[in-house]
Amino acid sequence: MENYSPSCERNKQVILEQIAPRLPQNATVFEIGSLSGQHALHFTQYRKDMRWQCSDIEENLLPLANNIQSFGSDNLLAPVHLDLSRADTWQHQQVDCIYTANTLHIVAPLLVENIFKIASAMVNPGGQLMIYGPFKYNGQYTSASNTDFQQWLLDRDPQSGIRDFEWIETLATSAHFRLDTDIAMPANNQLLVFYRQ
Ligand SMILES: C[S@@+](CC[C@H](N)C(=O)[O-])C[C@H]1O[C@@H](n2cnc3c(N)ncnc32)[C@H](O)[C@@H]1O
Repeated sequence: MENYSPSCERNKQVILEQIAPRLPQNATVFEIGSLSGQHALHFTQYRKDMRWQCSDIEENLLPLANNIQSFGSDNLLAPVHLDLSRADTWQHQQVDCIYTANTLHIVAPLLVENIFKIASAMVNPGGQLMIYGPFKYNGQYTSASNTDFQQWLLDRDPQSGIRDFEWIETLATSAHFRLDTDIAMPANNQLLVFYRQ
């Protein structure tokens, strides 16, 4: 497994337990910022009816493609190149769901906005946008470890950082999504599920 992530191994089952009952039969899912593809590999093993496509920036695309070729099942398609900083050139396809995990605190705010622009263009009416990761609420971190994590993120890249839930909900509303559920997950993460109106 290239670009192996220990945290993905820890959280993939708990995420699957939340997303699997929410995704309709034969759902088409597009993932942004897949890195190793460990989430997609796990989810598509369990849900053989789904068609899932991963994506990532150029530097992470070959390891992702190698992992999918080595370990993926038929319903996990070859990954594609998507750089959120070039979202204006992205060729949209229609899908039932966009899934992204641990990306909003990594990319710059403008690129977070681009996630919603892409989701607005790609997700069918009644479809979903699922976002996993840490958030803050009313300016407060949900744990001391997330406060430390925020400092670590900022030291590494001042454009990154744990996002305000309220800002994310505003972006979602502007992109014609409404929040369906906000699930507290282990290790001070959340799973936000939005529906396309
Ligand atoms: C912390 S990793 C999360 C990976 C995986 N989803 C997970 O949960 O472990 C952040 C991901 O965002 C991707 N990323 C960073 N900048 C990006 C950009 N400009 N466009 C798209 N993806 C980007 C990285 O390549 C990486 O796959």
